[in-house]
Amino acid sequence: MRILVTGATGTLGGALVPALLKAGHEVRALSRTKRDGSGNVEWMWGDLISGNGVKEAVRGVDAIAHLATSGRRGRGAVDVPGTRTLLILARQAGAPHVLLTSMVGADRAAYGHLRHKLEAERLVAESGLDWTILRATTFHQWLRRRLGDFAALPALPVDRSLPWQPVHTGEVATRVAALLSAGPEHREIEFGGPQVIGTEELVTTWLRASGLRRLRVPVRYPGRLYAAQRAGDLTTDALPKGGITWHDYLLPPPPVLSDDFASEHTASPTSPATQPEQDPDLRVYGGDEGYERPTRS
Ligand SMILES: NC(=O)c1ccc[n+]([C@@H]2O[C@H](COP(=O)([O-])OP(=O)(O)OC[C@H]3O[C@@H](n4cnc5c(N)ncnc54)[C@H](OP(=O)(O)O)[C@@H]3O)[C@@H](O)[C@H]2O)c1
Repeated sequence: MRILVTGATGTLGGALVPALLKAGHEVRALSRTKRDGSGNVEWMWGDLISGNGVKEAVRGVDAIAHLATSGRRGRGAVDVPGTRTLLILARQAGAPHVLLTSMVGADRAAYGHLRHKLEAERLVAESGLDWTILRATTFHQWLRRRLGDFAALPALPVDRSLPWQPVHTGEVATRVAALLSAGPEHREIEFGGPQVIGTEELVTTWLRASGLRRLRVPVRYPGRLYAAQRAGDLTTDALPKGGITWHDYLLPPPPVLSDDFASEHTASPTSPATQPEQDPDLRVYGGDEGYERPTRS
C-alpha cells in the first residue's frame, strides 16, 4: 500500500515510518519543512493549517496515518481545522482509509487538548471515508521530556494521586502499522502501556535513571482534566497492551552474557561499553528509527 503519514517528523511518526517500510508499504511523509526524498520515503512539503501542499500529498494514496497535531498548547489548530481540510481533500482524491491517532480518555474527559482530539475523532468518523481511530496513552518519550523540563529545579512538584500508563512509541507504531495493513475498523481502539503506576514511582524511576536527587513537594494539580486523570479516565484495560514498562524504558536490564562470552569480552570500568548512554531511546532500542523490541533471556 502507499501510505501518507502526517506528523511523520514527530515522536510517533519517527517510529511509524520505519515500521511501515518494514511491513513492505510505500511511505509518503508530510512535513512543513522541505526535505529531499531519502531512501524509500517520499517527503512532501505541506501545511494542514493553510492547506498548502495537502492536495498533492493525498493524491494516489491508499491510506493515511494522520498523526499531525498542534499539541497541548496549539489550541487544536491542526487537530480540528487541519483534520477537516485533510478529510475534504482525501475524499476528493479517491477516499483512502484514514487512521487517526487520538488519546485515551478523549471520550471520557474532553477537556483541554482532549476536547480537540474528540472533535477530530468525530470529523473522521463522520467523514464518509473508511476509518480507524487509535487512542493511545501517554508516550514514554513525551513524559521523559516533560520531566526533563523540571530537571533544573531544586524541587519537584509531585501530585501523588495521579495514575499514569506510559507506552512506548515503538509499540504504538507497530499497532498502527498492523491496523493499517488489516484495513478499516470503523471503531475506536485503545492502546496503553503494560502498567498503571503512580506519580511517585514515575518520578522516582526517572530521578534514578537521570542520576538526580530532588526534593519532592506534594501538590494537587487543579482542573477538570487532572480530576479525570485521578478518577482513572486516562488509563485503559484494553488488550493487547504494550510490553515495555517505564522502568525498563529508563533502566533496562543489562544483557545476559554467557560465561564464555563474558570472560572473552570483559570491558574495563572506563571502557565506552560500560558507560551509560544519555538517551534511553538509543540505549535501549537503538532509537525509534531502528526500533526493535528488546529480547530478554
Ligand atoms: N505525545 C503523547 O504522549 C501522545 C499520547 C497519545 C496520543 N498521542 C497522539 O499521537 C499523535 C502523534 O503525537 P506526537 O507526540 O508524535 O506528535 P509531535 O511529536 O508533537 O509531532 C507533531 C507533528 O505534527 C506535525 N505538524 C504540526 N503542525 C503541522 C501543520 N500545520 N501541518 C502539518 N503537520 C504539522 C509536525 O510536523 P512538522 O513540524 O515536520 O511539520 C510533527 O511531525 C498525535 O495525534 C497525538 O495526539 C500523543
